[in-house]
Amino acid sequence: MPFKISVAALKETLEAQKLLIDSALAEMTKENIEAAAVKSLLEKLDGDIDSFVSKIQEDYSDGLKEYDMVKYLNNMLEIEYSGIFDYNYYAARVSDESLADKLREFGAMELEHAHLLTRKIKKLGAIPVTPGAHERKKHTSIVAMLKEHAKGEQEAVKLCEEGVKMFTDPEFQWILGTIRVDEQSHQKEIKELIKKFENVEMVFSIQEKYNPPKDIDYDSDEPWIEG
Ligand SMILES: [Fe+2]
Ligand SMILES: [Fe+2]
Repeated sequence: MPFKISVAALKETLEAQKLLIDSALAEMTKENIEAAAVKSLLEKLDGDIDSFVSKIQEDYSDGLKEYDMVKYLNNMLEIEYSGIFDYNYYAARVSDESLADKLREFGAMELEHAHLLTRKIKKLGAIPVTPGAHERKKHTSIVAMLKEHAKGEQEAVKLCEEGVKMFTDPEFQWILGTIRVDEQSHQKEIKELIKKFENVEMVFSIQEKYNPPKDIDYDSDEPWIEG
């Protein structure tokens, strides 16, 4: 990780530590604890963190911005992972082939998005998040499942719109603009699918543990793990 991003990450961690120090000092006062050496050490740490934070803000403001961009991109990447897994998961469980194809197609586009985000995070010198445990709602109908996806797509569009206002980096703007257009088209198509399957009843069998299908093209240098 480049130094300017590392110090931004360190700044965030130290700020969290500072909150702990402040609360420890407050407790010392409240409980009338006489421990002059510990108290002066805590006060010194508190002051040192303040100086570090001010210095970083002064000298590495572009690093702070990049660090925030990485955090944003990783957040977006987690949403894409959910999309990839969920679309493929349900595609394997619906009996209607045209719907299964559509869900797989959406999943493939989310994979493309994940690759775009991953490449950008790596280009910034940072580490992309890896897919973690993922909670899946139990659906009783195709429409309920589609509605959850519609909600996910809407959240992704909203996040893209917020992102383009936050960071001016041209490549970032292009990536988020591209993803936004795709998610909007998914939203539109899911709306139509909801109409089509409105009266179709189907109960899903949900497994507690899901392994992503092997036929997804996981690039070897990309951060995929099978859960
Ligand atoms: Fe996506
Ligand atoms: Fe999507």
